[in-house]
Amino acid sequence: MIVVGGSTSRDLAKDIASIIGCKYIEAATVRFPDGECYTRIEEETLDDDVAIVQNTYPDENLVEMFLIQDAVRRAGAKSVTLVIPYFGYARQDRVFKNGEPESAKVMCELLSRVCDYVITVDIHKEAVLEAFKRPYKDVKAANAMGDYFKDKDIDMVFSPDIGAAGRAKMVGERMGVPYDHLEKKRLSGTEVVIQPAKSDVKGKSVLIVDDMISTGGTIMTATTQLKAAGARKVTVACTHGVYVNNALERLKASDIDDLLSCNTLMSETSRISVAGMIADAIKERC
Ligand code: R5P
Repeated sequence: MIVVGGSTSRDLAKDIASIIGCKYIEAATVRFPDGECYTRIEEETLDDDVAIVQNTYPDENLVEMFLIQDAVRRAGAKSVTLVIPYFGYARQDRVFKNGEPESAKVMCELLSRVCDYVITVDIHKEAVLEAFKRPYKDVKAANAMGDYFKDKDIDMVFSPDIGAAGRAKMVGERMGVPYDHLEKKRLSGTEVVIQPAKSDVKGKSVLIVDDMISTGGTIMTATTQLKAAGARKVTVACTHGVYVNNALERLKASDIDDLLSCNTLMSETSRISVAGMIADAIKERC
């Protein structure tokens, strides 16, 4: 097995290779003056099973993934596993209004050109991966989160909406603490309304878990509700810290006491590693 790190995920790729105990190669990616991507695998041959670790977000990184896929196949890879820690376009998983594309399906079809197996992490809708028409595994970061927070003074775990209730359950069960979900209604891309918690949180240290933080609207509103209900401390953990439109600055200035994310997207909050879980998923396959 050889693990190839694309420019979005070099540290994660190195960690995965080190856990598996296999060779790590960096895709030497640079940008031409006009912004186009150039990449090169600086090895004579890759006569082995290859796993490429690279996010497909934002769009320029998707192009890099296409080019790395072609390069590794040409260099002789016996099989190609795509490890996509953060899969862009997963939220447009169906046509919501007439005239829209089915974006997630388009991306899977394009990425399946050079690919034998796909590994994602907490993709927004797992069903999207069917479009690869290849075997796949969506790694659930909940266990890594649960292990991280086991000894961190957390009394209860919440999800900000019913959609993420399963994640709160997995994290809570892993930690051996109670869990619940809040009720969220989305008004627009940036506005949400969240109902007061039904569980008693007075004086408690609570953890809110979600798959991603984008604008931060969901998590900040959830935190406000829990603090208003008397929570002593609110810690937030997401798998993917996307943080658009200065969200990180706004989150740091909010009522949130501690903010963490996994290392699928790198930022100052990426303190929970999913490298071990991805390494296990690769080993299971090979
Ligand atoms: C929604 O279904 C997701 O799980 C997240 O709660 C949502 O994408 C977060 O977005 P934002 O940070 O913009 O509220």
